[in-house]
Amino acid sequence: MATYFPFLPEQGSRFATGVDTFYFSMVGLTIFFASLIFALILFFSVRYRRRSPREIGADIHGSLPLEIFWSVVPLVIVLGIFAWATELFFTRSNPPANTYDVYVAAKQWMWKVQHPEGISEINELHVPAGRAVKLVMTSQDVIHSFYLPIFRIKQDVIPGRYTSQWFQADKPGKYHLFCAEYCGTNHSHMTGWVHVMEPRDYQHWLSQAGIGTSMVAAGEHLFTSLGCASCHVRDCPPLQGLYGSSVALQDGRTVFAGEAYIRESILAPTAKVVRGYRPIMPTFQGQVSEEGMLQLLAYIKSLAGEAPGKVQK
Ligand code: CUA
Repeated sequence: MATYFPFLPEQGSRFATGVDTFYFSMVGLTIFFASLIFALILFFSVRYRRRSPREIGADIHGSLPLEIFWSVVPLVIVLGIFAWATELFFTRSNPPANTYDVYVAAKQWMWKVQHPEGISEINELHVPAGRAVKLVMTSQDVIHSFYLPIFRIKQDVIPGRYTSQWFQADKPGKYHLFCAEYCGTNHSHMTGWVHVMEPRDYQHWLSQAGIGTSMVAAGEHLFTSLGCASCHVRDCPPLQGLYGSSVALQDGRTVFAGEAYIRESILAPTAKVVRGYRPIMPTFQGQVSEEGMLQLLAYIKSLAGEAPGKVQK
């Protein structure tokens, strides 16, 4: 459905077309059945009206074929809707390989964005057009929700967790970004702009913004300044190749070393102790900001040969 409906924002991403087609199909289906039912009610009330005061209605004993017909047809329709919606959901949830990854830390009441090259922005997000972009998001305080109407995406941003959302913007332009979860007094001011740029303009913007310290380098710096390096070469589990692997724990369990595990290990090291090691690591709770945590993650991922933004849950 490529036509422009004035009551919806224009379609700025690949999802937008899919979501709108689904949405209008649902509306169409609903209108069709509502009209059908109203027309039938009208028709039957005229056709089978009482014609004389003494008229007695005919006995009805039901019809099995009819019962099956009006049970099976709606079943097939709703299963079709389910399959269609699920397909949309999976496309939305599974980013393609080689996404361009951007980190977002939300707080009351702003969006802090970090690009892998080291550029930071507040309430602005610059992305190249025609490229799959993935956002890795977390919150410093309460639940926020990253909402880009023109791309038809909305994703909760949750303290203590990483959520991700990907999109591919097709059309260069400047688009509204909103917080879609009530998050306190200035929730309504927690807005921003997404700038979709031609790849060439984007490269230009990157060079104009001045390349800062890349996220991996910033993470490595933090890693050293927090004193992590001294233990993680001798007494603590090595971090090379850790990200994305399976880790055997002291208590016999095995965990997947994704974002959540690494984050927990930094903040609550004794929660999951690696087999063969003693629980000697101190907590870093309160010492690492959410942005710092994202940088540490980028660094630990790079030790596993991963692109800094790769997310696995
Ligand atoms: Cu953040 Cu509403």
